[in-house]
Amino acid sequence: MGYKSGRHFLQIPGPTNVPDRVLRALSRTTIDHRGPEFAQLARELLQGLQQVFKTTGTVVIYPSSGTGAWEAALVNTLSPGDKVLMFETGHFATLWRSLALKLGLVVDFIPGDWRHGVDPAAVEENLAADKDGKIKAVAVVHNETSTGATSRLHDIRKAIDRAGHPALFLVDTISSLGSIDFRHDEWGVDVSVGCSQKGLMLPPGLGLNAISRKAWEASRSAGLPRSYWDWETMTRDNPSGYFPYTPATNLLYGLQESLRMLLEEGLEHVFNRHSRHAEATRRAVWAWGLDILCLNPEEYSSSLTTVVVPEEHDADALRRLILEKFDLSLGTGLGKLKGRVFRIGHLGDFNDLMLAGTLCGVEMGLALADVSFSKGGVAAALDFLSGR
Ligand SMILES: Cc1ncc(COP(=O)(O)O)c(C=O)c1O
Repeated sequence: MGYKSGRHFLQIPGPTNVPDRVLRALSRTTIDHRGPEFAQLARELLQGLQQVFKTTGTVVIYPSSGTGAWEAALVNTLSPGDKVLMFETGHFATLWRSLALKLGLVVDFIPGDWRHGVDPAAVEENLAADKDGKIKAVAVVHNETSTGATSRLHDIRKAIDRAGHPALFLVDTISSLGSIDFRHDEWGVDVSVGCSQKGLMLPPGLGLNAISRKAWEASRSAGLPRSYWDWETMTRDNPSGYFPYTPATNLLYGLQESLRMLLEEGLEHVFNRHSRHAEATRRAVWAWGLDILCLNPEEYSSSLTTVVVPEEHDADALRRLILEKFDLSLGTGLGKLKGRVFRIGHLGDFNDLMLAGTLCGVEMGLALADVSFSKGGVAAALDFLSGR
């Protein structure tokens, strides 16, 4: 394949577009991670992340993908045979459950249709029925990246409180952090799981945990084996600006820049920008006469929109055509959604004209693939974006 002019459109729901400021930061010379300059950097990052998670508690950074941070949340707080309440919101909730089972945890997996977030009433009902306190943790994926449904965490927290249950509240914020409002302290989350390649606008390679006091206390008696993921060794070294093993120094430079950018823009503005782009995208999809996978308007995701492709078409063939013709990458259908949907990522470093270009690529692709749809999706989005 020869040179493709212009920028590639990376509109999958993560990894997201890495802004030039971050790319430049990543390219700086690697320094001694046991020297004074590094220690200053690490302390700045740990404080910046507290602002993004909205916590005054401890945050840890692993050189890992999000899956590592999932594992860290479980092995630091639970013991073999402990019961975890999980909800089948989609592919990522299903993967987190598999990980928990491999670790020797027992999972109550509440079935779902992959078109909704977690039902707070189901949380309350299951916890209220757990009279002898077997459930040690409730684990929820805030924004299900496979479906585009965002669970209502504040309502789920209230449901846990109404049931008067002491379970830990573990939340995957992987595709919500830095894109959708998330409040670790205010919503009584015990462990938040995050990573670098979504709203934080970085390449993959950093996993994050934000830890409440209650989770920290649980970690003292948690019996699952751990070494690499151990919070104890991390938090022993972190306050002085160091890590127990070699950190991903250059990704941390990038994180420094991305945190500065998020805080310069202001988190509230960042969330509003994401929700505005999500609304414009939905208007385009509706004008095309296509369906959005998420069925509950209260749970529409600001990070991505999952579009259902009419049955006689293969969504992956459509994605392939759009990539070949327009150099635009869209997210594939995951798990049981393979071939049935495509996902438009509108999170991270993104603006109106990037969204307009993305929607143009989709609309042209739908026409070329002979999908039966109505033209006018792009126009509907532009009307919304321009305030007409
Ligand atoms: C919601 C969610 N959880 C977990 C993961 C797994 O993260 P990773 O692929 O970085 O291990 C992803 C990846 O996209 C995700 O979107």
